[in-house]
Amino acid sequence: MQIRPLFIAIFLLIIGSKSIAQKQYRPAIHFTPPAGWMNDPNGMIYLNGVYHLFYQHNPNASVWGPMHWGHATSKDLIHWKHKKIALYPDSLGTIFSGSAVLDKNNTSGLGVGNKVPLVAIYTQHSMEGEKAGRNDFQNQSISYSLNGGKSFDTYKANPIIKTPNLRDFRDPKVFWYEPTSRWIMSLAVGDHIEFYSSANLKEWKKESEVGGPTMGVHDGNWECPDLISLDVDGKKHWVLIVNVNPGAPAKGSGTQYFVGDFDGHYFKPYDRAAKWMDYGADNYAGVTWSNTGDQKILAGWMSNWLYAQVVPTEEWRSGLTIPRVLSLVQTGHSNNDFLLASKPIQQLEKITKEGIIGNNISLSTPYLIYKKQGLAASRLKLSLDTANSFEIILSNDLNERFIIGYNHNTAQFYIDRIKSGITNFHPDFAATHFAPRFVKSQSMDIDLIIDKASVELFADNGLTVMTDLFFSTKPYTKIEVRAADKKTNIKSLRFKRLRNIF
Ligand code: FRU
Repeated sequence: MQIRPLFIAIFLLIIGSKSIAQKQYRPAIHFTPPAGWMNDPNGMIYLNGVYHLFYQHNPNASVWGPMHWGHATSKDLIHWKHKKIALYPDSLGTIFSGSAVLDKNNTSGLGVGNKVPLVAIYTQHSMEGEKAGRNDFQNQSISYSLNGGKSFDTYKANPIIKTPNLRDFRDPKVFWYEPTSRWIMSLAVGDHIEFYSSANLKEWKKESEVGGPTMGVHDGNWECPDLISLDVDGKKHWVLIVNVNPGAPAKGSGTQYFVGDFDGHYFKPYDRAAKWMDYGADNYAGVTWSNTGDQKILAGWMSNWLYAQVVPTEEWRSGLTIPRVLSLVQTGHSNNDFLLASKPIQQLEKITKEGIIGNNISLSTPYLIYKKQGLAASRLKLSLDTANSFEIILSNDLNERFIIGYNHNTAQFYIDRIKSGITNFHPDFAATHFAPRFVKSQSMDIDLIIDKASVELFADNGLTVMTDLFFSTKPYTKIEVRAADKKTNIKSLRFKRLRNIF
């Protein structure tokens, strides 16, 4: 036997099996970077009919490293076009998370003629400064684009906010606050959020801070804040989104929020206890698109700092959750009783194909919804008359399974990915995650979005949300529902295939 052909055959086999695995996990309906590493979504802004997504990106490796802002655009938040890298590290540091605003009135003076500046506001992180043990390595900078985000110029007098020698001083999220005619910046500073105001995006004044040990969860640093307003029955309330790593209900990184009031200077939470936006393990650093008017659309990084860098994809790592429309729901009579609901964007209907429709299905025996080719991508909507316990099971012929369930006795939803496939890359991956049910009604709505390596659960109209990744050895090909107590009745079932966006 000749050695060379054998080598080549083995090499091709290895390459081949890797790319099969790559393909198997590359989402069909979620954004992923073309290659390399991605974490937080950044600078999301809607401009002239186009949604821009910038993101934490290491183009040179599929692990975290010197951060750039990757860039993609979409007309519908579903189909994405990759663009060239928007921001590169410079002498002040690498480009950490931040936001983008349209400076319509040219308050910054960065506009030229009738070219309105799109201004990106972000943290610059000096890796040298950090290594040298200094405390001044995170500062805020701006860059601006006069061609709608195609290219950026760095502002000459960066940084615009210098750190007061605090090591965790980052992730500026900016919006225009009409009543005081000021830009407002939320900034994550260790265990609290600081608010700054500015008339011109260049000079900033500290207004106040909120947080600290008596508010929310503090197992790790607060990161990536966002302050948004949402109306309930004509009254404006404010939601402060605060990402934290670690400390999430499913371990690792997660997103808490606080509902309250904001007057341009202070944010006053109605309640200082953390509420969680998503009880799954894989939705982090989510913030909203700017310039979308009253509609607030959020997307998160679909991974978890616990294991993001070792998941079994190698060409690229991580993606974006399905964008979600946010609303506040009053669940009780007092001011404290608001919950943030997230619902998948309507535009998903555009890629929804024919499917299976069933009505009045008794679960006295397990009900096989579908068994054929890979389940990805598809969407399952169930409407139940009585919210007794049930399980929806995705599986393959290797008996790997991913279970989405509801336990009537504990009033909890859960996702069990213990036997979902490849889990040995991190000890915390094979786990069951739990989420409370917030409403008491008998009837229940379930909306599941299934992709090649993820499931997103939206229950009770988005009041309980869970986003979880999986890495089955072979694609799941079967989906069934069953109810141990045999009592659950499905009023209506819609299982529809979703068209691949690529
Ligand atoms: C959150 C985060 C941010 C930081 C960025 C660095 O995931 O840690 O606080 O700006 O990632 O990539």
